[in-house]
Amino acid sequence: MKRHLVSTADLSRDDALLILDTAEELAHLSGRSVKKLPTLRGRTVVNLFFEDSTRTKTSFEVAEKRLSADVINFSAKGSSVSKGESLKDTALTLQAMGADAVVIRHHASGAPARLAGSDWLHGSVINAGDGTHEHPTQALLDAFTIRRHLNPGTGHDLAGRRVAIVGDVLHSRVARSNVHLLTTLGAEVTFVAPPTLLPIGIENWPCQVSYDLDAVLPKTDALMMLRVQRERMNAAFFPTEREYSRRYGMNGIRMAQLPEHAIVMHPGPMVRGMEITAEVADSPRCTAVEQVANGVSVRMAVLYLLLGGAVFADAPADASRTDSPEAAK
Ligand code: NCD
Repeated sequence: MKRHLVSTADLSRDDALLILDTAEELAHLSGRSVKKLPTLRGRTVVNLFFEDSTRTKTSFEVAEKRLSADVINFSAKGSSVSKGESLKDTALTLQAMGADAVVIRHHASGAPARLAGSDWLHGSVINAGDGTHEHPTQALLDAFTIRRHLNPGTGHDLAGRRVAIVGDVLHSRVARSNVHLLTTLGAEVTFVAPPTLLPIGIENWPCQVSYDLDAVLPKTDALMMLRVQRERMNAAFFPTEREYSRRYGMNGIRMAQLPEHAIVMHPGPMVRGMEITAEVADSPRCTAVEQVANGVSVRMAVLYLLLGGAVFADAPADASRTDSPEAAK
């Protein structure tokens, strides 16, 4: 595996399966009364958040603490960034404090890649969402959730599974990271959106495109709903919210058109009444809350493999190692 996780396009099938299988081992921990491993004891991880976040930030923090890392939370609000400090000077400051890894969320697409390609930081850079570009750990937790529901056992990819990603693809870093990862894992991806919410050049992406949600539903194993990202919109992309919901919103009637085994996913935050009704959001087929729980295991796996997992990556896990995921079983 590379030193950084900036894009799912950088992950080979073997890398992706290693992360998912490691997360599967680590998930055993969450059922224990003591949920900690000493693996990252003495390592410092900085969470550098320039954009709002509920799930991703807390999930990374829980994952880091469960691996016993020293955690520093840094948000742009209330820091010298609001006084005009640059990303470079912020990074140099974190390096001076001995950060072994930086988890970064930034409103500018490309900010994590800039950090990873610089000599400002010596540790690993993990992208926790950059602008409309990528959100790799979200895609990994989505793949983990799909695999748990649709594929028996570890070591398997998602060959032949059909995933529909519905809504504001244009502004979605979740959709971009998912299309790379899911196709690497062998799944067939269909984007469903109004033409105004699809990126230019979509025909060159490794996916199908449809404007008709009802036609796609019966052929779907996992349906991923996306939030309409109003904060990134500077124009009217559809006539009214009501019309958007009518054509692209998930409701009870549409849920009945899905195959019986199919799941409805959402990365959160959900806007109930817009892209998803309360009936669907609260139904047992909706995995939104389970995705959050899976996010902790997946982020632990990423941190473990980037920061402390050389032994695990090179050799089969030794169950006698108390700091290995195997020991969590
Ligand atoms: C997503 C994000 O921030 O990109 N949320 C998340 O990380 N769980 C999606 C969104 O904001 O709609």
